[in-house]
Amino acid sequence: MMAVAHPKLGLRPFLPADALVLREIFRDSIEDLTADDYTSAQQEAWASAADDGAEFGKKLAGQLTLVATLEGSPVGFASLEGKEKIDMLYVHPAATGQGVGAMLVDALEKLAGGRGVARLRVDASDNARGFFEKRGYVAQQRNTVSVGDEWLANTTMQKQLAAKREAS
Ligand code: ACO
Repeated sequence: MMAVAHPKLGLRPFLPADALVLREIFRDSIEDLTADDYTSAQQEAWASAADDGAEFGKKLAGQLTLVATLEGSPVGFASLEGKEKIDMLYVHPAATGQGVGAMLVDALEKLAGGRGVARLRVDASDNARGFFEKRGYVAQQRNTVSVGDEWLANTTMQKQLAAKREAS
């Protein structure tokens, strides 16, 4: 039998019907998990990216988006923009600390590595920086991005992948 870290955890590609629940996860995650590093005005500006539900769903569908499930229900998601940038990574506050984020990023790294991509980049929020450091991402530069009326700081981080090429 295969070793499974958490037998109730699952992973699958994004489906259009997931958009609404992922929007809730996105908002709850920002609201509950990022207050140590961002002001409430910054959190609101950040979360407002999902105000237009149709637009948010379109963004998820347009990227390589993976959904993590716990007993079948979505509890987190991550997306790859283009070939080598992790764009989104959000875990529901009630489901953190169980390896959901690690499972999602691990899957994106394997997918990218399997396609022969040499490195992955991420503009990591300040609260997620430790998570990415733990996974071998190295800080490249600090950024300040304009979101609505607010300025939010993040850090561009990069990880070298051991790209696997299958012999055919
Ligand atoms: N700092 C240091 N270590 C951390 C942090 C942190 N902030 N968060 C998790 N870890 C560690 C865990 O302790 C764990 O360590 P272990 O392997 O020794 O047990 C390891 O990282 C993996 O943790 P998970 O349980 O897989 O992470 P989790 O499911 O809790 O998700 C995440 C982490 C995604 C950062 C979550 O807290 C979250 O959604 N935060 C708010 C949203 C956010 O900021 N997302 C990233 C924005 S940047 C972007 O989207 C690319």
